[in-house]
Amino acid sequence: MDAGQVTRTEVPEAFDEVADRYDLMVGMSPGYHAQLRASADALLDAIPDAATPSTPGVASASTASADALLRLLDLGCGSGASTRAIVESVRRHTAPGARTTARPASVLAVDGSAGMLDAARSKAWPSWVAFAQGRAEDLADQPELADARVAGGLDGVLAAYLVRNVPDRDAVIAAIRDELRPGGVVALHDYSVRGRPVSTALWTAMCWGIIIPLGWVTSRRTRLYRYLWRSVLDMDSTAQLEDRLRRAGFVDVTTLHASGWQRGIVHTVLGRRPVDA
Ligand SMILES: C[S@@+](CC[C@H](N)C(=O)[O-])C[C@H]1O[C@@H](n2cnc3c(N)ncnc32)[C@H](O)[C@@H]1O
Repeated sequence: MDAGQVTRTEVPEAFDEVADRYDLMVGMSPGYHAQLRASADALLDAIPDAATPSTPGVASASTASADALLRLLDLGCGSGASTRAIVESVRRHTAPGARTTARPASVLAVDGSAGMLDAARSKAWPSWVAFAQGRAEDLADQPELADARVAGGLDGVLAAYLVRNVPDRDAVIAAIRDELRPGGVVALHDYSVRGRPVSTALWTAMCWGIIIPLGWVTSRRTRLYRYLWRSVLDMDSTAQLEDRLRRAGFVDVTTLHASGWQRGIVHTVLGRRPVDA
């Protein structure tokens, strides 16, 4: 096994080491892409004017005009799996006959790992998708968000498997809030087993029985996958993550739970920046 431990500040560089094998790894995880699509759909469903009928209380929260660009951020986009989920969700929400208010979209996908971004950029994307390198903790300095700021902020942010990894979760959540327009929505999709003993045991068995050995087989490296195991044990419970969002000023905070083998392990915590904030 490769020696050494990954710290949270080193995570993007650790992803560089496995970037060319990452899609292979997640392709072997049943439900990985479907769960990202479910989170992207939940995000789009909750954005004012992105979808009708909206969840109770959402329609009245709308501050976006119906003809404005739907501005979305995929933070920690990696090799583009979550970006693809957003693109597919936008298409479903704007397809002819869909019960939606069609708005043209733009998606900015940001990641700290140059290697993961190279993997993402090597794929085919619609013209309204762009990629940029950047650290989540430096979101306020991301120049590619300038247009969104001028327009009043982002409509939605998906952060899939990101917040567990950042050095300061509260700071990143606050930075996301500051980039959202009033009424804009964040979806934090991640592993969380704290407070769930059965899920914790299953997670440890999955990691040491399947994920870490597969990491070795696919990339001859295990330190990122050993970090993955530890980081999930250290992650907030979903109630703690919800509290972080509320403390940061988010409202309508709610959690969706994945099905399949990730039941009790993968969750999506959603929150809305208040209209009057
Ligand atoms: C597990 S991958 C998930 C990628 C993608 N969202 C998906 O769902 O497949 C996590 C990604 O977050 C990125 N990442 C981790 N910490 C980061 C940080 N502080 N700033 C920006 N990106 C970060 C990593 O480089 C990696 O590409």
